Amino acid sequence: MKKTFLVISLLAATAAAAYAADDPIAARKSLMQANGAAAGASAGMMKGEIAYSPAVAKAAIASFNATAHTFGDYFPEGSDMGADTHASPKIWEDRAGFDAELAKFQTAVAAAMQASGKDGPADLDAFKAAVGPIFGTCKSCHEGYQVRQ
Ligand code: HEC
Repeated sequence: MKKTFLVISLLAATAAAAYAADDPIAARKSLMQANGAAAGASAGMMKGEIAYSPAVAKAAIASFNATAHTFGDYFPEGSDMGADTHASPKIWEDRAGFDAELAKFQTAVAAAMQASGKDGPADLDAFKAAVGPIFGTCKSCHEGYQVRQ
């Protein structure tokens, strides 16, 4: 029951982004909230707070994958303004650097997708090996391109 709920909330968070396409700030934040939900479920399993489930692991990795492929579309000129965004002005000043961070995230996620197969990583160790590099890319992009609240 708990697992099913988690999977559904991950998918819902990803789908929410589609409704915000006319508002790039809301869309990219919604995608990052999906990242946050997927990371939360992942960390819960890694710490043993939630029993490991290959299906939940796969849903989390698939959610990272959806975000990795769409997030870069929501940084048009002019969307660096406003109280609602924590995107750093550096994204627009150094787009190549930002795109390089995005590419690292995409590469780590693609490897995790490959490692997780059809049914998800077989056990917690396989999941940790797949997800660890993804978490490293969250941190490095935030350090460079997200303004702290
Ligand atoms: C390529 C850069 C990049 C990567 C990779 C990245 N983020 Fe982000 N993240 C951002 C930026 C930029 C923002 C600020 C967006 C805004 O406020 O407009 C953000 C915001 C967030 C937020 C706050 C959302 C909100 O409601 O304001 C969360 C949570 C988050 N990221 C989690 C993650 C997690 C977890 C990962 C890794 C799985 C990740 N991010 C990977 C750039 C990135």
